[in-house]
Amino acid sequence: MKRVLVFGVFDLFHFGHLRLLKRAAKLGDYLIVAIQSDEYVVRYKPPGASGALYSTEERCEMVRALRCVDEVITYDNVEEDIKSIIFDIWVKGSDNIHSGILAAIKWCEENGREVVTLPRTEGISSTYIKRLISDFTGNREVEEYEQGKS
Ligand code: CTP
Repeated sequence: MKRVLVFGVFDLFHFGHLRLLKRAAKLGDYLIVAIQSDEYVVRYKPPGASGALYSTEERCEMVRALRCVDEVITYDNVEEDIKSIIFDIWVKGSDNIHSGILAAIKWCEENGREVVTLPRTEGISSTYIKRLISDFTGNREVEEYEQGKS
């Protein structure tokens, strides 16, 4: 049985996440999704980016409900936690390139684990959704303000 592993934050679950997980599931028999704990999320995001909007438990609950997912666990940092998970293939998105990821890739190479990189779905991300909502709310407030004047 091939155990496939995916790491991620999975905030504001969207179709980019879903497609990545569906493709990952097809590469093996059992899909494990490791979801990053709240307090660690912000460390791996660009400077100024906010943390996750949904709590660790909420993000786990959403991903656990998917048919293609067999197991959901949480992690703090990839580099350390990858060593204690039982898996055969790590499926990562093409965006995952920070130093912890590179160290984890090296560990996989040295320990006989396969690493597969899949392209991201274009045009969607949790950050993009946050920005859209923020713009939308801003516009509505402006509209209401304008209507209030007439
Ligand atoms: N992912 C993807 N396509 C997207 C967005 C995410 O394939 N459009 C993949 C990532 O490559 C990663 C997994 O989904 O393997 C979880 O990504 P995550 O960082 O949680 O999602 P993002 O939407 O990229 O979040 P953010 O905008 O906060 O960086």
